[in-house]
Amino acid sequence: MKRDNIFLEVPKYYLTENERQELMSYQSQATYTEFEIPAEFELEGLNDGNLVSINPHVPDWVFDKFKLPLELSISYLFLKNTGLNIKHTDGHRQSSLTVLLSNNETGTDFYNEKDELLTTLVHNGNTFLQNNKVRHYVEPTKVWRYFFQISFDLPFNIIVEHLK
Ligand SMILES: [Fe+2]
Repeated sequence: MKRDNIFLEVPKYYLTENERQELMSYQSQATYTEFEIPAEFELEGLNDGNLVSINPHVPDWVFDKFKLPLELSISYLFLKNTGLNIKHTDGHRQSSLTVLLSNNETGTDFYNEKDELLTTLVHNGNTFLQNNKVRHYVEPTKVWRYFFQISFDLPFNIIVEHLK
């Protein structure tokens, strides 16, 4: 699944079922804090609905499996939410490799500047590169959505080239 300039499925970074379960177990031990939108960005100081654990303890295989994206990254994190409360673009990063750890069906909606829906990324437990400079939002969900993410301060298109 692919949407030019918004998201790209990256099969070489799929998790096996064992890896997914192990990361779920690590995230359950992690300390989460409310993500606060940084000053100098739109909506500064608000929480967008995400709880994050930045550069958490992860199993050693993560550093081998994600060697290239980690070399390009500014951080990796566990992130969880039950939907978002603000339609937003990310202030602290441009793109991310996003791995859904919980296997529930959940989507991330992307919008243009006129708030028209462009597309929905349905994660389905797979791995996607996503362009966080495109406005996005998640409808409230009944269950927690758990993610492992690698964050880049490089544009989506540059990371696409590196991960080819
Ligand atoms: Fe975001």
